[in-house]
Amino acid sequence: MTMSKLEIKKDFLWGVSSSANQIEGAWNEDGKGMSIADCEKFNPSSSKTDYKSVNKMTTTQIKDAIKDSSSKLWGKRHGIDFYHQYPKDIKLLASLGIKACRLSIAWSRIFPNGDDLEPNLAGLEYYDHLFQELRKYNIQPIVTLSHYEMPLNLLLNYDAWYDKRVADYFVKFSKTVIDRYHSVVKYWIPINEIDSILRHPYSSAGLIEDRFKGKNFNTILYQAMYYQFIASSEIIEYIHTNYPDNKVGSMITSTMVYPYSSDPRDVLKAEQIMNETLEFSDIQLRGHYPKSLILRMKKLGVELRTTSEELRLLKNNTADFIGFSYYSSICAAADTHGLKLTNANRITGVFNPHLETTEWGWQIDPIGLRLTMNKLYSRYQKPLFILENGLGARDDLTKDKRIHDKYRIDYLQKHIDQMMIGIKEDGVEVLGYCIWGGIYMVSASTTQMSKRYGLIYVDVDDFGDGSYKRYLKDSYYWYKDFISESE
Ligand code: BG6
Repeated sequence: MTMSKLEIKKDFLWGVSSSANQIEGAWNEDGKGMSIADCEKFNPSSSKTDYKSVNKMTTTQIKDAIKDSSSKLWGKRHGIDFYHQYPKDIKLLASLGIKACRLSIAWSRIFPNGDDLEPNLAGLEYYDHLFQELRKYNIQPIVTLSHYEMPLNLLLNYDAWYDKRVADYFVKFSKTVIDRYHSVVKYWIPINEIDSILRHPYSSAGLIEDRFKGKNFNTILYQAMYYQFIASSEIIEYIHTNYPDNKVGSMITSTMVYPYSSDPRDVLKAEQIMNETLEFSDIQLRGHYPKSLILRMKKLGVELRTTSEELRLLKNNTADFIGFSYYSSICAAADTHGLKLTNANRITGVFNPHLETTEWGWQIDPIGLRLTMNKLYSRYQKPLFILENGLGARDDLTKDKRIHDKYRIDYLQKHIDQMMIGIKEDGVEVLGYCIWGGIYMVSASTTQMSKRYGLIYVDVDDFGDGSYKRYLKDSYYWYKDFISESE
């Protein structure tokens, strides 16, 4: 018997996970406004590990994107056409036996320009139907309020998340959907991977360096990050006050970091890199900035604009659980000269010779998940929620329309095994586990379709061409059997 067959709590949420901008498509339908995601272009000439085109954007690239009304290379404009096909897709997901489905509500569907006085009814109706569909199968929606899809107008006519008014618009959008869906949604995540603003400020916060000429860009980044925390706290306060049976989670990118050697300098480096992410959950779980972050900001010449009301919000409204994504690990060395480097979820690190590596350079490390769980749980003593875990790989559709993704089954099985050990032997409390991409989606970092996640294959290529038909992968049948056996 593998560890994964061990008995687990009845209310454990086995699920799948996605974001609106990576699956919905219909980028300009039913009143939806253009979002920052709609401006991310697939670059056929860039190498698989060269993510620069999406991590950073320029004003010229945005202007070009606005002029081009096609959806060819703009993968997030067509996604997998979930917007039109969701009833069939949810039926397929339901037959896996999942209990939870994490998704995001596209801000630009509800407030197309971000600063609109009234919400777009057609956008709300779409999510009404989507949630009804999930309820039909007893699947709990877990909702992210901001997953890389800010309305573009807030970048063009405001200063994106650097602008306090934008944070206020986000809170207004959030309250609108929380009021409407609080009875069907129990778990809310204000901002996906809140730490990602430092690695990809454009997709996380709509920040483009050339729009802040003459200013210290670090000040822009850290101020925007502060407003993301304040907006999250306001949302937590709103939910706790009005809908006390709803829970709010923090959400960080949890990439495990190992010292490359036993040289104490490497150990220190690993600790520092890991802490740079943990500082984000520290803020959301402890209600204040850790000293190390304050000192680092000082070194960078950053002076935050704060008010006492904002600091009160931060202090009094901490998260109920710790959501995180886990895909990979890296090594850290004090001196990386001559060492082979690798990339895990847009974090550059030193290559670990003990691990396998995907075609996109992400190293596969199931034990890293258990270590991450232990680190987070011992630090905060609050329940964890594994909101993303999965493998991005090239999948081949065979002539008889099958996808034999044994590599993905291995990946998932081994990670689930480690999660189970973490729960059973280390005593870590975990609310649920969601596979990233129950159904396939466009990659966040490269806007590629050929880096495939999930259990259901969609026939669409990097250029948006294909029948958009769905095919069940071997991993689909594996997860289905696994869930039924764990019950
Ligand atoms: C997570 C993001 O960090 O990583 C997802 O929340 C993303 O949006 C996932 O899709 C995998 O990354 P990528 O770049 O391979 O799509």
